[in-house]
Amino acid sequence: MIKTVHFPFIKTFDDYDFTFQPKLNKEEILDLKNLRFIENNENLIFIGTPGVEKTHLAVAIGIESSKNRFQTYFINANDLLAQLKKAKNENTLMRRLKHFYSYSVLIIDELGFLPITVEDANLIFQLIAMRYEKHPTIITTNKPLSKWGEVFGDVVLANAVLDRVLHHSKIFTIVGPSYRMKEKVDLFIDE
Ligand SMILES: Nc1ncnc2c1ncn2[C@@H]1O[C@H](COP(=O)(O)OP(=O)(O)OP(=O)(O)O)[C@@H](O)[C@H]1O
Ligand SMILES: [Mg+2]
Repeated sequence: MIKTVHFPFIKTFDDYDFTFQPKLNKEEILDLKNLRFIENNENLIFIGTPGVEKTHLAVAIGIESSKNRFQTYFINANDLLAQLKKAKNENTLMRRLKHFYSYSVLIIDELGFLPITVEDANLIFQLIAMRYEKHPTIITTNKPLSKWGEVFGDVVLANAVLDRVLHHSKIFTIVGPSYRMKEKVDLFIDE
């Protein structure tokens, strides 16, 4: 079941080293394991600098939700947009949107890593508006919410998305050292 979800890697809460990101509230993160956010239709937003386990945590939650038989899907934001744009060009956008709407938990990874066009932003808006108060969406992004206007190329549209995403949501801001650089820190220290 986990295979069909398209996770980029399989990592769980047990693989997570809380001592590396001491500012993160361990109880609050582990509490996500009970999946109450699904019952409550709450979105989860992980905002942070590179390598601070945003994707890792989104995957860990996705593994829990699929283990508990919630239809779960993991997709990179650019792949999602490519699929929606293709569907729009082929006049099958509504069918594609309904497909992504149908997942109990949809994980959109790396939203805002690359700037998107207003047309793309509109497609994201349509999906978010459909899922709003029906099914939770998990988003990882490296852009603070105040920058979403720039990312979406349109402040009004970005606010419309944020309004729906944030209304019922938990936001985790993780700013810290990159775990990928853990063993490479001395390379950055001047002799
Ligand atoms: N605190 C941690 N404990 C254990 N592994 C970690 C921790 N933080 C990050 N990692 C590992 O480091 C790698 C990078 O983390 P991850 O991909 O989740 O970062 P990210 O925040 O999504 O980064 P990016 O913004 O570049 O997408 C992953 O292999 C992840 O499992
Ligand atoms: Mg990531």
